[in-house]
Amino acid sequence: MFGARCLLRALRSCSSAPCPRHKLSAKLSVRDALGAQNASGERVKVQGWIRSVRSQKEVLFLHVNDGSSLESLQVVADSSFDSRELTFGSSVEVQGQLVKSLSKRQNVELKAEKIEVVGNCDAKDSGFVHIHTPVITSNDCEGAGELFQVKPSSKIKVPEENFFNIPVFLTVSGQLHLEVMSGAFTQVFTFGPTFRAENSQSRRHLAEFYMVEAEISFLESLQDLMQVMEGLFKTTTMTVLSNCPEDVELCHKFIAPGQKDRLEHMLKNNFLIISYTEAVEILKQASQNFTFTPEWGADLHTEHEKYLVKHCGDIPVFVINYPLALKPFYMRDNEDSPQHTVAAVDLLVPGVGELFGGSLREERYHFLEQRLARSGLTEAYQWYLDLRRFGSVPHGGFGMGFERCLQCILGIDNIKDVIPFPRFTHSCLL
Ligand code: 4AD
Ligand code: MG
Repeated sequence: MFGARCLLRALRSCSSAPCPRHKLSAKLSVRDALGAQNASGERVKVQGWIRSVRSQKEVLFLHVNDGSSLESLQVVADSSFDSRELTFGSSVEVQGQLVKSLSKRQNVELKAEKIEVVGNCDAKDSGFVHIHTPVITSNDCEGAGELFQVKPSSKIKVPEENFFNIPVFLTVSGQLHLEVMSGAFTQVFTFGPTFRAENSQSRRHLAEFYMVEAEISFLESLQDLMQVMEGLFKTTTMTVLSNCPEDVELCHKFIAPGQKDRLEHMLKNNFLIISYTEAVEILKQASQNFTFTPEWGADLHTEHEKYLVKHCGDIPVFVINYPLALKPFYMRDNEDSPQHTVAAVDLLVPGVGELFGGSLREERYHFLEQRLARSGLTEAYQWYLDLRRFGSVPHGGFGMGFERCLQCILGIDNIKDVIPFPRFTHSCLL
């Protein structure tokens, strides 16, 4: 524990502000601030992220955490400090006096004299905690076997197959790790590189691409999930348009004339929703000849997806409730025999086709147990099944391909043109 003398020493040694002695505002970690035994008005500066905001008539309470302690530091401020920028997730620098707290819940609190928002957290992001999901993993989330295996080079002394004791791969999705974390944080997201050993040189496939993934607990309907997806697409597009107008205009002018109008059309309309079954019916009635004949139970190909979007007036369209047999083990069973579909959702956008893939997750133990057993995955996914034994809740999430999103915004036909070093079958330059 931290005594008053230690506190003073810490204050002196970590003081970074070259201000006059009587106004000393020393930088302190939340951990050290909380450990102060006899705080009596020392001036300190604490930097961290807002974990909660409670606004009362005359006083504002913030809980600030910088990762140095599981506990947060209570900041007490005059209600005049209240601002729309002080939201969950915003990073702040608070200067004030460290004083003994009147409440029994905490030893000390920081009486704020100055609160500076270092980085605000858009209200639309609020509540989504950023999780760094691993690149190396032992699971094949999508169950498609499109994995790159990772092994040490033969020069390393540890035998190749024994480095991690089990075979490991480059991640195809951070979803399962997000599902673990959503059990603690309710709304989580990750953004990182994703790898798929798909033997494809198509205009929308890469072997290494970036994906934004989100997972939301206590989510019970595809409707709610689609609202988040539509919001993310529209906010991302509007942010790119307003933050980089010159770059976007250059692309639109020379590569995709008319794209700006097409984007506006997408932004001002509500996205449409059709079921997989309706989609197949639309395709069957199309006058166009497809390379792959549309049929209930078969995957939708790019040509089908592009047709569907055109059919819907070039407005992005959600296709929901795909056949169970086409989708991975984690998607929630709709129990709608004889068709037997799962609560899956893909968002198809003009020019690209599938941009988002998501679903409600199978949160019911016995359903998941049976699905895993049928695919012979019970042993490998015991930990995943266990998540359904301890406080399981309905939840769902999605992934959005970053490069495909850029294709859609910029109007670029080939995915290899939106990334400086594209990786695909038979090509890994530099
Ligand atoms: O539909 P996918 O495979 O979904 C998942 O991986 C889920 N586990 C995500 C989740 O629910 N957390 O991939 C999501 C998106 C696709 O819609 C597409 O935009 C992009 O990732 N994507 C690719 N982009 C470029 N090259 C590839 N080979 C891609 N494969 C998927
Ligand atoms: Mg998909």
